Amino acid sequence: MIQPLILAAGQGTRMRSHLPKVLHLLAGKPLLEHVISAALSISPDAAPVIICGHQSDLLRQIFSQHNVRWVEQQEQLGTGHAVMQALPELDSDARVLVLYGDVPLISPQTLKRLIEVTPKEAIGMLTAVLPHPKGYGRIKRDKAGRVVGIVEEKDTSIEEKAINEINPGIYLLPVSYLQAWLPELSNKNAQGEYYLTDIIARAVKEKIQIHDVQPERHEEIEGINNRIQLAHLERFYQREYAEKLMEEGVTIYDPARLDIRGELIAGKDVILDVNVIIEGRVVIGSGCKIGPNVVLRNVHLGEQVEVRANSVIEDARIASHCIIGPFARIRPGTELAEHVHVGNFVEVKNSRIADNSKVNHLSYIGDAEVGKHVNVGAGTITCNYDGANKHKTTIGDNVHIGSDTQLVAPVTIGAGATIAAGSTIVRDVEPAGLTLSHRIDQRSLKAWKRPEKVKKEEC
Ligand code: UD1
Ligand code: CA
Repeated sequence: MIQPLILAAGQGTRMRSHLPKVLHLLAGKPLLEHVISAALSISPDAAPVIICGHQSDLLRQIFSQHNVRWVEQQEQLGTGHAVMQALPELDSDARVLVLYGDVPLISPQTLKRLIEVTPKEAIGMLTAVLPHPKGYGRIKRDKAGRVVGIVEEKDTSIEEKAINEINPGIYLLPVSYLQAWLPELSNKNAQGEYYLTDIIARAVKEKIQIHDVQPERHEEIEGINNRIQLAHLERFYQREYAEKLMEEGVTIYDPARLDIRGELIAGKDVILDVNVIIEGRVVIGSGCKIGPNVVLRNVHLGEQVEVRANSVIEDARIASHCIIGPFARIRPGTELAEHVHVGNFVEVKNSRIADNSKVNHLSYIGDAEVGKHVNVGAGTITCNYDGANKHKTTIGDNVHIGSDTQLVAPVTIGAGATIAAGSTIVRDVEPAGLTLSHRIDQRSLKAWKRPEKVKKEEC
């Protein structure tokens, strides 16, 4: 069995934050969640063990729904000390895969390769050659090219500092080695810490084979220590996601201005204009066009839907050929059937609108059931809330609602009815016919004159 172990006890001082570092978000998810997902994808049956320290209560609370186990490291005395805290939790026959809560983009593919090349009784580790190895432990090799140890940067000699092959800190090794060696670690080094890295030299001494694997891209093993690195990895993640979508047939006007904070499944010939934000799980059918500055959260779009600029759609299903926006807000619980148009400054909440209906201007449709071929005039409001409870509005097929109408719910408008502009509808309306509510008489005063602007000198 391969048991993932995630080190996440550090506070992350350089984030300058009240939040523990591993709770900062990358692509909308805490850093630690990315690592948990990678661990579970390669070892689905082993709940990852997480070493926590700073604000561990908060961590436990945020990940309470995840299948993980927690181990507390009271004082952060080094990576070797951290792993030692977990020993009682680990099965002696298992192998441990050491991961870091602040190295979020490690890929399951790289971890799989590490597992493949490492025999059961050997040690596997990642290494990477970096143009700027500063800050990392350096890999020491013998003349035959075998790994013989790791030197922490603060302990390096001048020659060692020049080595550009670094230790990402990700290892695979039998628990039994950790049980034997960790209690013997010393903290006599530049940082006064118990270094997990010292186990490599120890393994060499014990003549245990060490296998190394290199990640395909450096970003996989980059740790996050500050918000600059966080932003860098965020852009890297987004770029990769955008490239994957483009390969699948999505046109992205500017891949640097797309943010996927969740999952996007897109059909062919989808067009994404700039500054589109995707949250949660979003499905966009073939041929849809998403305009600039659109936010889609847990949305399902059929085919050939057009979402125009500056619209926000959340927890909704939109069928094929709908046109939404610009400046529309579609709120949770909304379902639009085919060929529905929802135009500018229209808010729709928890409502179903059947095919070919139009709500094009400045309206609020809440808790409503709207039939087919309905035309809702500009400024129509469903008055769904009486201050205590929400009530339903039902509008039959082929209804025409004049502009500036209030529909005071609960109310039903029968099929084919026409409501005159400016009506306040407080009772159910029969099908067909014209309904209008009491209007103030219209008068014109012929003699009336517009006031004229008073000149400055005269006052
Ligand atoms: C460690 C490695 C170094 C490697 C680098 C890769 C050691 C001694 N050094 O150095 O060779 O190049 O990672 O990023 O292992 N942590 C705990 N408890 C502790 C100390 C650390 O949980 O007592 C956690 C931190 O929260 C972090 C991770 O371990 O997630 C790494 O700790 P950090 O202090 O960043 O290690 P480095 O000094 O960078
Ligand atoms: Ca350190």
